[in-house]
Amino acid sequence: VKSRETIGWDDTHTCIRYIDQTRLPGHYIVVLCRTVQRLATAIRRLEVRGAPALGVAGAFGVALAAATCKKKDFASFRAEIRKKGDLLTATRPTAINLSWGVNRVLCALERADSIDAAKKIALAEAKKIAREDEACCHAIGEYGAALLPGRCTVLTHCNAGALACTTWGTALGVIRSAIEQGKEVKVLACETRPLLQGARLTAWELSHDGIDVTVITDSMAAHLMRTSTIDAVVVGADRITGDVVFNKIGTYMHAVCARHHAIPFYVAAPLSTFDHERTEKDVVIEERSRDEVARCGTRITVPEGVKVRNPAFDATPMELVTAVITEQGVLHLPLDMKALIRHRTIR
Ligand code: MRU
Repeated sequence: VKSRETIGWDDTHTCIRYIDQTRLPGHYIVVLCRTVQRLATAIRRLEVRGAPALGVAGAFGVALAAATCKKKDFASFRAEIRKKGDLLTATRPTAINLSWGVNRVLCALERADSIDAAKKIALAEAKKIAREDEACCHAIGEYGAALLPGRCTVLTHCNAGALACTTWGTALGVIRSAIEQGKEVKVLACETRPLLQGARLTAWELSHDGIDVTVITDSMAAHLMRTSTIDAVVVGADRITGDVVFNKIGTYMHAVCARHHAIPFYVAAPLSTFDHERTEKDVVIEERSRDEVARCGTRITVPEGVKVRNPAFDATPMELVTAVITEQGVLHLPLDMKALIRHRTIR
């Protein structure tokens, strides 16, 4: 995916273009998405996923709402765009980047004095967010790469790679940048039950780039930390509050095990993932469908009638985090959330 954007704007067809991540690794399908309704479905189904990519999707979603709006008076135009923004924000509650991307374009629209101007401003702002995402990932990569030894094995969870951003990635950006600097990095990718973002997506994009990647089941991580050399755990984040890091379910388990084995546990994320207004108790953890756990393709893997839980994310207490790698540098703890928020483009 090095040269291919995960998500972008298609000027020829006036629509959003994204790689359908539900079809990987078997099929590489690029979807042209022409309505906000379709985008909302794509986000719910994880065709587009990963915090930074969701931020870009939210931003382009508002631009698409503006581009396709048929309203003739400015007040009804604005009301409709806000409604569509709310629809997108509600699709996935935990990753803060989604509402951040939506709100940033809505805020930019405040400058518009006509429908035509609003359409142009929305698209320009969304494209700017996509460009910034790429720059952020490269900066995160550079700062993070300096933390890795010259020859190392890194364990990662879920997919915090190019597919979770526009390109390069956050956690996988650290690995890509380290390799670019001449370091020898081997990656252990946890498969990430139940939707296998690690096995399907991380393994796909790293192997495409010729990076040494080995897939393990999530439950093998502790054993390998104990019996082999793992130099660092590097993961992404869906929301960082002052007290915890929300990330894909299973991340907390790796953080606990890493601490026990004295392995550094790094979180790589842009400042747009930080939430200075909330703490753990205020954040909704998305609970997804039973079928994701109880079925594998057409096969039933849990007896019918048996209860299933499926929280999509967990919270890792900050005291288990060695450092947070951002586009502004490596942050050691405790985090000064207020100071951090002042550095980012929008609150
Ligand atoms: O449910 P997903 O696949 O959207 O979850 C993604 C993750 O948890 C990623 O680790 C996180 O968004 C960071 S992506 C750079």
